[in-house]
Amino acid sequence: MIICGIETSCDDTSIGFVKNGKEILSNVIFSQNYAHNHFSGVVPEIASREHLKNIDKVYIEALNKANINEKDIDIIGVTSYPGLIGSLVIGVNFAKGLSFKLKKPLIPVNHLIAHIYSAFLFQEFNFPVLALLISGGHTAILKMKNFIDFEILGKTFDDSVGEAFDKIAKHFELGYPGGPIIDKISTFGNPETYNFPLTLNEDKYNLNFSFSGLKTAVIYFRNKYINKDSNFSNVNNLLLNDDKLNNSIKESLLKYINHQNYLRKKGILNDNENLFDIISSFQNTVIKILINKLDLALNIYNDINTIIVAGGVSANSYLRNKLQEFCKSKNKKLIIPPLSLCTDNGAMVAGITYEYYKILKDNNFLFFNDLKINFNACAKIEELKRGSF
Ligand code: KG4
Ligand code: ZN
Repeated sequence: MIICGIETSCDDTSIGFVKNGKEILSNVIFSQNYAHNHFSGVVPEIASREHLKNIDKVYIEALNKANINEKDIDIIGVTSYPGLIGSLVIGVNFAKGLSFKLKKPLIPVNHLIAHIYSAFLFQEFNFPVLALLISGGHTAILKMKNFIDFEILGKTFDDSVGEAFDKIAKHFELGYPGGPIIDKISTFGNPETYNFPLTLNEDKYNLNFSFSGLKTAVIYFRNKYINKDSNFSNVNNLLLNDDKLNNSIKESLLKYINHQNYLRKKGILNDNENLFDIISSFQNTVIKILINKLDLALNIYNDINTIIVAGGVSANSYLRNKLQEFCKSKNKKLIIPPLSLCTDNGAMVAGITYEYYKILKDNNFLFFNDLKINFNACAKIEELKRGSF
């Protein structure tokens, strides 16, 4: 069974084809970063227009890469919530048109659960699981009995974790999206230089998150949070003269050293403040917060042995290492999708569509074919009608 998955919830136009919920035939992702970079964040109206401009090209490319004809498609799945409403509408309407044209059923998909399915595409797992979902739009911990029966144990009160990365990058004029750049710069800094606040960390039963206080602390940090035991790293200039370091790394280091000088001239950094240490300490703090919350959740639900981490921020290299260490120490199985499946993509939508299809079929849902049009895009989960997945 070949499923077409369509994803346009934010700023990636993506279509993937997946066979029987497991075999990825193609997964074309057209990133709009070039269109939003100038604004250091996603501009919803621009995102919708870009989806509109590119979705048919992405569809054709995905068909070609999968080496299939559109008549081979058995079912279509589309992200219908949550996300930017204008962006979702483009994908949903494209999917409805395709469903009419091909006379194939169409299934609406929950974007958050699709992210979690991306881990399953990589490696099958048994339920129950604890899932940490960390993306540009959402941050949550879920306890899942299966892909439709789950409980949200905690979520962010304000910024999502990806948003915190993007806003810190914006403050230091590093470009958009901020996560990958912060990931890279952090490797040149000392993560223990600053003890930024571990937000919402006191209550042993609180699994919610808050990142806006941390963001403000980093932006107005000056030397307030300096860790007395740590030295500022002065390694950056030394590294440039290290023969063992490869040229492309040196090039990127030099670029950021120049950027640091520019920030100092502009007064965004004081002369004694090291951009690399600040960024690296910020990233380290975010990771401590995420792992502390996982630890809390495991203390409460200690019979759960598998942890899934998904969403764009799960691409972070330092986080991936720290999660491996943490899960090993707790004797838990950790599954994180490969980098190609961490950010928004059509394959994860196609994959979860297969799960939904099996459930609908097993329950003899006679209205299955009516699913073609009987739903709409929805920005927030809370606004969904009862009875949706
Ligand atoms: O899941 P995603 O592609 O889109 C949403 O559903 O929101 O996540 C995008 C987010 C952005 O905020 C981006 O900065 C972040 O994922 N991100 C990262 C990394 N790669 C992407 N954050 C930290 N480290 C990374 N390597
Ligand atoms: Zn996403």
